[in-house]
Amino acid sequence: MNQIFVIGIGPGGVDQLTVQATRALASVDVFFVLDKGDATADLVAVRSEMIRLYAGRHRVVDIPEVPRDRQPADYAAAVLTWHDARAAVYETALAQLAPGEVGAFLVWGDPALYDSTLRILDRLPVEITVIPGVTSVAALTAAHRIVLHRIGESVHITTGRRLLAEWGPELNDVVVMLDSHLTCLQIAESGLDIYWGAYLGTADEALLSGSLAEVGAELAILRAELKQRKGWIMDTYLIRRR
Ligand SMILES: C[S@@+](CC[C@H](N)C(=O)[O-])C[C@H]1O[C@@H](n2cnc3c(N)ncnc32)[C@H](O)[C@@H]1O
Repeated sequence: MNQIFVIGIGPGGVDQLTVQATRALASVDVFFVLDKGDATADLVAVRSEMIRLYAGRHRVVDIPEVPRDRQPADYAAAVLTWHDARAAVYETALAQLAPGEVGAFLVWGDPALYDSTLRILDRLPVEITVIPGVTSVAALTAAHRIVLHRIGESVHITTGRRLLAEWGPELNDVVVMLDSHLTCLQIAESGLDIYWGAYLGTADEALLSGSLAEVGAELAILRAELKQRKGWIMDTYLIRRR
C-alpha cells in the first residue's frame, strides 16, 4: 500500500505551515491537487508556493472537482453520494503512484475541521498519515487576541447552514464557518458580540468585532466589498453572548 500524507497547511499561507508539515512536504513524490475552479485559483497558488519552497523532486497530479448538488432535499445523503463520486476520481489519480511512492494532499487549515479528504481516503487502499495544521478558528482567536471559551464553559462550532436551527439560550459561544450569507445577522437578539475575520493569516486579513447589533450592518457592507474586490471570500466568526 502506498503511503499518503494528508497535510494541514494552515489557513493563511506559508507562514502558518508547521515545521512537521515542511518536513513531510520534503518527502513527497506526488502531490494531488484538487482543482476547484477559478474562484479558488488564489488558494491553489498558495499550495503551489508551499510545494515550490519545501518539496523535493516530485510530480503534481491534478484531480478534477466533482460537481455537487448545492440545494439537495436530503443534505447528508447528497454529501455521501458526492463523496462516493470523489472517491472514484481520487482512486483514478492515486493509480499514478508507483509502488513505494509517497503521495500527499494539502488541506487548508487542519484536515479534521470541515474537510472531507480523510473521509474520502478512508474508502481507498492507502496508508494515511495526518499532519495537523493551524485551523482558521485558531487564526481567528489569535487575530482578536481572545480565548475561545469562557472559564468552565463549552464552545459550539457550526456552519452558516445550521446556525439558526441550532441557536438557543444554552449556547454562549458559537463559532460559525462556511457561511456565505452572514447568517448571524438574522439573529434578532441583543447582548451578543461578534469577532469576525476574513482571509485570516494572509496579507489581506480583515477583522471586525463589537456588538452584533451595532456592527452588523457595517460588517455586511465590508464583507460584500471584500468579496467583490477579490472575487472570493473565506470568513469565520465567533458569536459570544455577553
Ligand atoms: C471547508 S472549511 C475548511 C476549514 C479548515 N479545514 C480549517 O481547519 O480551518 C472552509 C471554511 O473555513 C474557514 N476558513 C478557512 N480559511 C480561512 C481564512 N484564511 N480566513 C477565514 N476563514 C477561513 C471559512 O469559514 C471557510 O468557509
